[in-house]
Amino acid sequence: MKHQIIKDLENRYTAKKYDSSKKVSQEDLAVLLEALRLSASSINSQPWKFVVIESDEAKQRMHDSFANMHQFNQPHVKASSHVILFTHKVKYTREDYEVVVDKGIADKRMPEDKKEAAFGAYGFVELNKDEKGEHKAWTKSQTYLALGNALHTLARLNIDSTTMEGIDPQLVGELFSEQLDGYECHVALAIGYHHASEDYNAGLPKSRRAFDDVITVL
Ligand SMILES: Cc1cc2nc3c(=O)[nH]c(=O)nc-3n(C[C@H](O)[C@H](O)[C@H](O)COP(=O)(O)O)c2cc1C
Repeated sequence: MKHQIIKDLENRYTAKKYDSSKKVSQEDLAVLLEALRLSASSINSQPWKFVVIESDEAKQRMHDSFANMHQFNQPHVKASSHVILFTHKVKYTREDYEVVVDKGIADKRMPEDKKEAAFGAYGFVELNKDEKGEHKAWTKSQTYLALGNALHTLARLNIDSTTMEGIDPQLVGELFSEQLDGYECHVALAIGYHHASEDYNAGLPKSRRAFDDVITVL
């Protein structure tokens, strides 16, 4: 019998048209948001913020962010149930990491007297600093772990989704400047329930490269 994980991953797909009358329950949303929070990241850095667009006012702002490009994704903003902005910190400072270390102490993962030693891991952040003194290539890659986690969680919950790299990071940054202070958004996720007759992607077979093309077992 096929494993449930494989069934979930085969069943999930990228929705292309939503049924605007159907909303994700607050209960399911809470599961998704907790899955985001629990996502793994390098040195447990968690260099992200997830902005949940739920209200009509916020949806209008997100809708407006498509004024200049990627209009093919724009209809998802109002037709889906929620849109989540995956944002990453541009500069990941020692102070940012201290928050993580202090939480580790509060959560009893490490004793207080190991705090200075814990900062050894911050050397990894320094290694990922670019010529502008920023860490955004590294922090952005962490958000994609949360994204993958979200897609799998949504599959389990039978909620449809559309990952959208087709957004305008600059305009999103301007329209959500208060929430994105020090952060950038290059990928968003619409979630909801697909339109029964107008989602051309819903019935298509899953297509992936062959096992032997992508997996080498030595
Ligand atoms: C990082 C990323 C960005 C994507 N951006 C878009 C997008 O802007 N618009 C869209 O309709 N689909 C987007 N997709 C969906 C992919 O095209 C889709 O996941 C891929 O073709 C595999 O199909 P499936 O998700 O239906 O299995 C994106 C997917 C990922 C993972």
